[in-house]
Order: sequence, then structure tokens, then C-alpha cells
Amino acid sequence: MNGTLVELEHDLALLDRAARCAVRAHGHVEPNPMVGCVASDRSGEVIAMAHHERLGGPHAEVLALQRGGDSLREGTLHVTLEPCAHQGRTGPCTSAIIDAGISRVVIGHLDPNPDASGGVEVLQAAGIEVEVLDHQPSRLLIAPHVVRLREQRPWVQVKWAQTIDGRIATRSGQSRWISSDRSRGMVHRQRGRVDAVLTGIGTVMHDDPRLTARHGRPRRVPRRVLVDPMLECPPDAALLQTMDQATLTIACLEGAPEARVETLRRSGVDVRSFKEHDGRLDLRSMLESLYCQQAISTVLVEAGPGLVSSLFDACCVDEALVFVAPRLLGDEQALPPVHGRMPDTIDAGIDMSLHRVHRRGDDVLLRYGVSSGKS
Ligand SMILES: NC(=O)c1ccc[n+]([C@@H]2O[C@H](COP(=O)([O-])OP(=O)(O)OC[C@H]3O[C@@H](n4cnc5c(N)ncnc54)[C@H](OP(=O)(O)O)[C@@H]3O)[C@@H](O)[C@H]2O)c1
Repeated sequence: MNGTLVELEHDLALLDRAARCAVRAHGHVEPNPMVGCVASDRSGEVIAMAHHERLGGPHAEVLALQRGGDSLREGTLHVTLEPCAHQGRTGPCTSAIIDAGISRVVIGHLDPNPDASGGVEVLQAAGIEVEVLDHQPSRLLIAPHVVRLREQRPWVQVKWAQTIDGRIATRSGQSRWISSDRSRGMVHRQRGRVDAVLTGIGTVMHDDPRLTARHGRPRRVPRRVLVDPMLECPPDAALLQTMDQATLTIACLEGAPEARVETLRRSGVDVRSFKEHDGRLDLRSMLESLYCQQAISTVLVEAGPGLVSSLFDACCVDEALVFVAPRLLGDEQALPPVHGRMPDTIDAGIDMSLHRVHRRGDDVLLRYGVSSGKS
């Protein structure tokens, strides 16, 4: 191996460390991106690591520089995102890097935000060597931010639990419980890191979920959002009986019964009506409204094939979290996670890329990314 390749592998390994550090912020910093930084001294020894810890707080580079102090003079920063060159909630990171006497900065991904980008040019103008690498973990970290900037909607994760033969409920609609206690604990933790948990009226009718985060101390208390086009949610539904635990938005069609709208609003529900798109509630408009009017930046979908399929059809799914439990149903009429598609060829299916595999006891959690515009 030549020296350049060894150096590249070293840079990528340090960016990997920075990315692992960044994910500690999940649930603390959104709608900001998660960012991690590794700071080394001039001999290459890692002196400090940091991540952007909270919205409005110092950026990862600034924290790493503070932790490393004078020993970082002529040192190197490996940072998952291009350092900002603008005054936002905090000062420009480029100034802190220049003041600290850093001589090299390795970047995992350029900043997609036109207001914050330009850091590379500022650093280079100050005589700092800058390298921007194609680093997949950095790209995954910034992906939610890219979706928010480009589409003005939240990052949408759909989650389902399925048997080995790909069924999420029996033909009668019974799904409790496909996955293990441990997997369900993980779902509760994930609920406590997002701004909203979204479901459909079919799931409320069958499972009557509360959709609250009940594992450990949640980082966020997610708003529950229900797609209920004609406001059929029963008054004794757990979602309505737990209004003291988390807020509830119900999305309905403009033609939903007015009396029902009034009753729900009187009980504290945020009822929002949406126009139709191809005869059904326009899910993209609903997501845009959640993002622009209610500051919802991340959504976890826990629904059946009705809503999940509509979200795929609207190209509004970014990530799928699939729990596979060690069980077979063997019934072709049991419910699949997605339905209603009729691809003629395998290539016409929805392409996903496998990002991570976690084992939880006998269950496996597969995390898939959906290519933009492909869902
Ligand atoms: N294993 C799991 O992880 C899991 C998770 C959740 C639910 N489930 C199971 O899934 C089953 C429920 O499935 P489901 O499909 O009935 O539930 P759902 O997806 O929660 O809700 C379906 C409802 O949403 C409506 N909907 C979807 N997209 C819409 C749109 N764009 N506009 C207006 N309405 C829209 C559907 O309307 P239409 O009637 O017009 O289609 C339908 O009434 C249950 O058996 C439950 O146990 C399993």
C-alpha cells in the first residue's frame, strides 16, 4: 500500500470515530444535524473528541478545540460536516479553528445549507489544508437535514415488526406481539428521540396504542399524530384517554364532520384538516404542515399497510426500521407491511440500502435507507 492510501484509510477511520460520536446527539439537536469531531495534535495523537450536544449549544469543532486547548496547535480536525462560516445561534466555527492554529481539516460532508456553507473557502484562505472526503457515515448523518432543507418536511422513519415470512399481523389483524420485549423497549427509546409518532386509524381500531415513550427518560416527548380522514377515532381510544401524557394532532379531510371536529377540539385535540390528493388526504401537505407550523423535524411512523403504503406512494419515507422476529405465519392472507403495488419486474420494486443490522436477543433490527424519490 502506498502512503497516500494509508493516509486516506487513517482519515476515514478518524471520520468514522467522529460519526460514532455524533450519533450520541440523536434526539437532542434536531432540527440541527448531528455532527462529531476528532481533534489530533501535530504528531497525529487523538487529543479530544466532541459532538454537537444540544440545539443552540456549541458546535462539535468548538467543543473539541476547547477540550484540546493549546496542544492542538498545528494539529488536525476530522469533522463529519463542513465547519460553519456564519453567525447562527453560535459564532462561526471557522474563526475558532483559525484562532486555535489548526493546520489541517478533514471533512466528511459539505454543508448543504447555503446559509452555513463556505467554510472550506474561509479555512483555505487562512492557509489551512482542507480535504473533503466521500464518507458514507457522514452522508447518513446529514441526510435528515438535507430532506428538511430540500423538501420542507420532517425526516420520516417507518417502523414495523414482522415475521420471517414478512407478515405484520394475522389475517384478522392481530399483531401483538410479533417482536420481543427487548425490541419493543428499543421502539420506546426511539419514540423518545423524535418529535412525532404517526399512526393511522386502522392501527387505532385494531391495537388501540398510546404511542407514548415509556422506556427510561425520553429526550423528547413526541406529539402523537393520527391520520383519521373522517374522524372515526372512538372517544374511549387510548390516544384520547392519555391527553395528559402527550399532545395529539388528528389529521382529517376537509369534509370531516364538523360536530366531531368541535368535540375533539374541546377535549384538547389539535384537529387539522387537509385537502384531498387523488381522492385521499394529501400526506405530503400534512408532513409539510407538521414541519413548517409545528416544528416537527423527525417522525416515527408506527402504522399498518394502509398508511405506510400511502407514505411510500407519496415518496415520503426516508428510512425503514424493520424488526424481524423468529416466527413464521405461513398465511398468504396475513398482512404485509406494504400493499397495493403491482411491479411487473423485480427492478420495479422499491430499492432500499441496508445501513445497519442490530441483533436484539432472537430478533434482528434492519435499518434501511430509501433513496430519495424512489419510495
Ligand atoms: N406489526 C407492526 O409493526 C404493526 C404496526 C402497526 C399496525 N399493525 C397492524 O396493521 C393493521 C392495521 O393496518 P391498517 O392498514 O388498517 O392501519 P393504518 O395504516 O394504521 O391505517 C389505515 C387507515 O389509514 C387510512 N389512510 C392511509 N393513507 C391515507 C391517505 N393518504 N388518506 C386518507 N387515509 C389514509 C386508510 O384509509 P383507507 O381505508 O381509505 O385505505 C385506513 O383507514 C392492524 O392489524 C395492526 O395490528 C402492525
